[in-house]
Amino acid sequence: MPETILVTGGAGYVGSHVAVALVRAGYAPVVLDNYANSTPAVLPRLRALAGYAVPAVQADVRDAEALRTVFRDYPIAAVIHCAGLKAVGESEVRPLAYYDVNVGGAIVLAQVMGEAGVAGLVFSSSASVYGEPDALPIAEDAPLRPHSVYGRTKRVVEDFLCDLARANANWRIALLRYFNPAGADPSGLLGEAARGRPNNLVPLLGKIAAGELADLTVHGGDWPTADGTGVRDYLHVQDLAEGHVAALRYLAGARGALPINLGAGRGHSVLEIVAAFERACGRRIAKTIARRRPGDVAACYADATRAAQLLQWRTTRDLDAICADAWRWQQGGGRY
Ligand code: UD1
Repeated sequence: MPETILVTGGAGYVGSHVAVALVRAGYAPVVLDNYANSTPAVLPRLRALAGYAVPAVQADVRDAEALRTVFRDYPIAAVIHCAGLKAVGESEVRPLAYYDVNVGGAIVLAQVMGEAGVAGLVFSSSASVYGEPDALPIAEDAPLRPHSVYGRTKRVVEDFLCDLARANANWRIALLRYFNPAGADPSGLLGEAARGRPNNLVPLLGKIAAGELADLTVHGGDWPTADGTGVRDYLHVQDLAEGHVAALRYLAGARGALPINLGAGRGHSVLEIVAAFERACGRRIAKTIARRRPGDVAACYADATRAAQLLQWRTTRDLDAICADAWRWQQGGGRY
């Protein structure tokens, strides 16, 4: 019998790719989502990729009764917790919503997991917990100084989960700190369906190349980097999803709570991403170099050693694959 894994936020950008990676690895995902920033239209796509109708429950992670029902209805062996609010800019103007959903949701989920006797948890954290790094690449023991409300909610949940694991040795928790996930399923069936204008660089490039948005505004050409533009650690969302499966396998023989970076372990500048996207789509992308964006850092990329050693995981898809798959998704409309 395949193990049943609950994926909260399973209809979202990362969660949907995680659900597919789980099926491919021989697990049976159950998707839970309130569709606040996603849509049930992802479900037929999941069905097409999985080869069967992946069970899906519409519920909010803060709804303890709804979660109890899921744990009663399915033999959940572990949870991958992707549900949450993730727009950095919005978090500054809606802190209550971000603490409520991200922190409140994690507390309710942990309560219900405790009642159900389920101790394995993979948590979607973020490299934004680091803020401005003292040194590069960034290892997991680097200081945590998040710049945004969003990043602080992730740090609070990490602290909470570490406290749980210290108090009760049964917990097995992986805190996955994502760097910059991008790209889409190569089928073109799953991708990032941003509501309104995308915040992140790669989906923006897709919309610009498709003529839906005007020129790219490059946020700063005077950073202390090789070409003056910001450097980030982009990883293919399929690699990221496989990292969750690797974390799940690792947890089967682990105890406690541990942060693990998921990144490629190297950085690319904005101009390098633009060039890669131009190669993928065969079009020129007009750009204007403008002022730095408040809150940005010059460079941010992972020391991915821990993931390699403990999870036997590393990224296998390069920048060209990221851009080719993002472009395919965009050409299919870039939405569900
Ligand atoms: C952002 C979030 C981070 C989150 C991550 C993944 C901020 C400050 N950080 O990271 O917390 O985990 O997304 O969702 O928002 N860029 C441009 N022009 C644009 C857009 C982006 O030049 O129009 C540049 C940025 O300055 C940066 C790079 O592209 O150098 C990547 O930006 P983005 O995709 O927004 O990701 P991050 O800022 O790294």
